[in-house]
Amino acid sequence: MTAPGFPAHRPRRLRQTPALRRAVAQTRLHPADLILPVFVREAIEEPVPIAAMPGVQQHTLSSLEAVARQARDAGLGGLMVFGVPEHRDAVGSGADDPDGILNVALRVVRAVTGDDLVLMADLCLDEFTDHGHCGVLAAPPRDSAGRPRRFGPAAAVVDNDATLVRYAAMALAQADAGAHVLGLSGMMDGQVGYVRAALDAAGYQDIVLLAYAAKYASGFYGPFREAVGSTLRGDRSTYQQDPANATEALREVALDLAEGADLVMVKPAMPYLDILSAVAQVATVPVSAYQVSGEYAMLEAAAAHGWLDRERAILESLLAIRRAGATQILTYHALEAAAWIA
Ligand code: PBG
Repeated sequence: MTAPGFPAHRPRRLRQTPALRRAVAQTRLHPADLILPVFVREAIEEPVPIAAMPGVQQHTLSSLEAVARQARDAGLGGLMVFGVPEHRDAVGSGADDPDGILNVALRVVRAVTGDDLVLMADLCLDEFTDHGHCGVLAAPPRDSAGRPRRFGPAAAVVDNDATLVRYAAMALAQADAGAHVLGLSGMMDGQVGYVRAALDAAGYQDIVLLAYAAKYASGFYGPFREAVGSTLRGDRSTYQQDPANATEALREVALDLAEGADLVMVKPAMPYLDILSAVAQVATVPVSAYQVSGEYAMLEAAAAHGWLDRERAILESLLAIRRAGATQILTYHALEAAAWIA
């Protein structure tokens, strides 16, 4: 019955049944929206579990091959491969070595899945350097008399432009190895334009560049350090963005687009939905978001305690990231989530 005086135009209870809710949903998840990040580790015989990311492993080449097949069969939007080398050095030599673990892994996957799965490579030095930074380090600064400078940054300073040269070499090695998309995650200034030019000069016009445009210096990357066996001390706040700031994310996106980025990313995802939304409103290319290791760990830890309904919370988090404006989401739950929504 209608209460006396209640307006006739009040909202109808359209959401009464699941079918009605489904029919009017503005946002949906599809397996192709999801990209699975994976770790492949050199010189291991069996996959190694990552304690801080229950359910995620460092893969051998053969277990990686199996995961690539699953990703293809599930119709995922891609596989993002990170390499964990046995040996590291100051300049990250393993990164552009054709026999380096990441490049070997790319060739293995591409041979199995061909063009049926979008193969993405992490393009950054941090897994390959002994100091764990995303670039090569600058020589300690000198004062005007050539003595070691007394005042100045105490923290390691990355040599931006020397790093670009390393990234270009890495890009060519990854393109040679069969990657379709290169994920520029190092946050060096000018990296997109520099790598684009190097690829084009080598005839790799068809290689797609995914720029980690707005990448924040985040505590949510914690478990990733274990995943890649990182040696990093300190943090990356001299080259990643300050969580306090929003405007500079838009500037980073604009610069990356001007340099030729084909895709841009916001990272992490859940704590930065406002940034994602703002970026999605101005970007003229697809926008992806990276639900990072710490976000994964939080969901898993709470679910393991029975404090969250695992499937519901995971799917809701992914839906929220899509709603905020992401075209695609990098998530360690990609395979499981794809099975749930299929
Ligand atoms: C650096 C890189 C990081 C992640 C992806 N690429 C770590 C960092 O910037 O400190 C983190 C991903 C995650 O936490 O899941 N190349």
